[in-house]
Amino acid sequence: MLLDSFGRSHNYLRISLTDNCNFRCFYCMPEDEYDFTPSAKLMQKDEIISLAKTFVALGVNKIRLTGGEPLIRKDAGEIIESLAALPVTLHITTNGTRLHEFADTISNAGIKGINISLDTLNRDRFIFITKRDQFDVVHKNIELMIDRGLRVKVNVVVMKGINDDEIIDFVEWTKDSPVHIRFIEFMPFTGNKWTSNKVFTWQEILGVIEARFTFTPIENEKNDTAKNYTVKGHAGSFSVISTMSAPFCSTCNRIRLTADGKLKNCLFSGDETDLLTPFRNGEDVIELIKINILNKKKELGGQFDKNFEDLNPDNIFNRSMINIGG
Ligand code: 5AD
Ligand code: SF4
Repeated sequence: MLLDSFGRSHNYLRISLTDNCNFRCFYCMPEDEYDFTPSAKLMQKDEIISLAKTFVALGVNKIRLTGGEPLIRKDAGEIIESLAALPVTLHITTNGTRLHEFADTISNAGIKGINISLDTLNRDRFIFITKRDQFDVVHKNIELMIDRGLRVKVNVVVMKGINDDEIIDFVEWTKDSPVHIRFIEFMPFTGNKWTSNKVFTWQEILGVIEARFTFTPIENEKNDTAKNYTVKGHAGSFSVISTMSAPFCSTCNRIRLTADGKLKNCLFSGDETDLLTPFRNGEDVIELIKINILNKKKELGGQFDKNFEDLNPDNIFNRSMINIGG
């Protein structure tokens, strides 16, 4: 069991397959020119599988593949197949553009649910946010996954003045479709133009929805980061991820492996442990993993607290989101 010094047990590993992406979402990419990691520096397929097995031996029983965009990696299908054979539940977070190519792989791997990022239902705004004209394919692939019987969660990063006027439209979508919308508070990462006044909080999101719908909370699952709700009579549901206004660090069970093989014990951790280099040198990484987890900070990587109004993003030492992996 991967216990930290606060007694939290870590059974959920998020593995980034690549920091490359076919989108350029401004809240995820750094402002300056960004060079994607060359493939030799990325964990290779067999390295991913071996490292994953090490984590499974240490108690991990849930793995999520992230990116960049995990499905643009050429061997993504083989990686999915191999990881699905481990005693874990396997999940994927994707921008949705390639899902039609992976529909069979996903079904055969027994994947039950998929998280897809979509911050707007407006095509022009989609282009503004992602710099790519791919709203239609993403939307179609969401439908495809629903038709195939997967539980689809749509991740919406809510940003004041950018897409907060679409909250009702997203909830409206849950009326006839069994889709689950996850409204995510905008988080600060290196170079992502975060300012505290762009955060649209959990309370504000619920306020907007309350003015139009009557909704009730749904029971949370253990370690759930999202607060879940449903509107009576709707086929789908929605939730809010309140990282900024009400962090949920006390029940955190998540650790992350970046595409270049560094272990991060928190989304906001300032330090990380290189596992890939020692692994390539034939060294045992188990002690490194244990020490990294033991050093996990109590909250938000020890870098800020929930009074985010006073937060200066320049004082946070971290990677950009695309380089961490969701
Ligand atoms: N704040 C909140 N969520 C973010 N994501 C990416 N960058 C941010 C940010 N700055 C979300 C993406 C994706 C998930 C992995 O993380 O929308 O759905
Ligand atoms: Fe790509 Fe997702 Fe980042 Fe957008 S948020 S640039 S889709 S990894």
